[in-house]
Amino acid sequence: MDSSFSFSSCMILCLVLVLGSALAPQAEARAFFVFGDSLVDSGNNDYLATTARADNPPYGIDYPTHRPTGRFSNGLNIPDILSEQIGSEPTLPYLSPELTGDRLLIGANFASAGVGILNDTGFQFLNIIRIFKQLEYFQQYQTRVSSLIGPAETQSLVNQGLVLITLGGNDFVNNYYLVPFSARSRQFSLPDYVRYLISEYRKVLAKLYELGARRVLVTGTGPLGCVPAELAMRSRTGECVVELQRAAGLFNPQLIQMVNGLNNQIGSTVFIAANAQRMHMDFISNPQAYGFVTSKIACCGQGPYNGLGLCTPLSNLCPNRDIYAFWDPFHPSERANRFVVQQILTGTTNYMYPMNLSAILALDSAT
Ligand SMILES: *[C@@H]1O[C@H](CO)[C@@H](O)[C@H](O)[C@H]1NC(C)=O
Ligand SMILES: *[C@@H]1O[C@H](CO)[C@@H](O)[C@H](O)[C@H]1NC(C)=O
Repeated sequence: MDSSFSFSSCMILCLVLVLGSALAPQAEARAFFVFGDSLVDSGNNDYLATTARADNPPYGIDYPTHRPTGRFSNGLNIPDILSEQIGSEPTLPYLSPELTGDRLLIGANFASAGVGILNDTGFQFLNIIRIFKQLEYFQQYQTRVSSLIGPAETQSLVNQGLVLITLGGNDFVNNYYLVPFSARSRQFSLPDYVRYLISEYRKVLAKLYELGARRVLVTGTGPLGCVPAELAMRSRTGECVVELQRAAGLFNPQLIQMVNGLNNQIGSTVFIAANAQRMHMDFISNPQAYGFVTSKIACCGQGPYNGLGLCTPLSNLCPNRDIYAFWDPFHPSERANRFVVQQILTGTTNYMYPMNLSAILALDSAT
């Protein structure tokens, strides 16, 4: 009798404790904010009248729900894996109707597939959230959070948050190199175009700082010339396309320089640059070492290298996504994304400037 009473009171107490810890706000997990293009869009474009969308199967085939979510991946994307690593729930797309109440405190994903640094990039996708609009939404987000927890708490949530921004690829692929003799390529030589992009990107980063961001991961472009789409359209031999590789090769070092300059001007390490090109080249140049059977052929697509057109329900689909570096003609598989996040977390200064995310997290937990 006595023991069964204490057993049942423990049952109640334990239930209260378990529920309590599940319902309590996650004090330790920091907010996470995401800006940029399809590499980091977690579904905003599903709410927009645009052709840049990943809302059809087999997108999401390896996502926990096995359904398309708007992520340009077979499963998780880079922000999801980063959230997992910092111990937070995945951030919801800013346009999701589910992003209300306490869920706002986890952060938000403002990214939109098809956008670039420049306003004219991705014009063919019609209605997408251009980067300045993403920043406006970030401001709107802060107003909404203020009405929940007050302005001071909101500011510290944002100041202590982690930010990821991924831009640049579309300014080449969906602008300068979109068509032969594009307006931008007639206006600028490649080196001048890169300098222009970097100066515009600098304004975007300065605005993020102005809006309260204090730890911002900035990724450069991947190896644009090596994606299956470019191999299919421009490569005869299956070698990475030289001109696009040259573009990424010019852009990434200047991005790192610009980020260093901004940090020096601010007097603290607000911006952390990730060399996405180098991270991807590791498994692209030696796929077998990473457990991939190929880094040239997309898992989902059609035509040479499965690189032509979009990934649709009618496309070729590989049975095992984990052995392909590319999921669709432009985007890495979840497994490839995991290698990228690993380098963001623990990479040497050959990959992360001025230091990797683990070092940043250790600094932040010490203060
Ligand atoms: C892009 O548009 C925003 C406003 O929508 C504007 O502030 C910015 O100057 C524009 N950038 C360029 C390079 O025209
Ligand atoms: C991360 O960066 C720090 C500082 O540059 C370095 O000492 C460390 O070896 C790197 N890796 C990990 C796992 O922290």
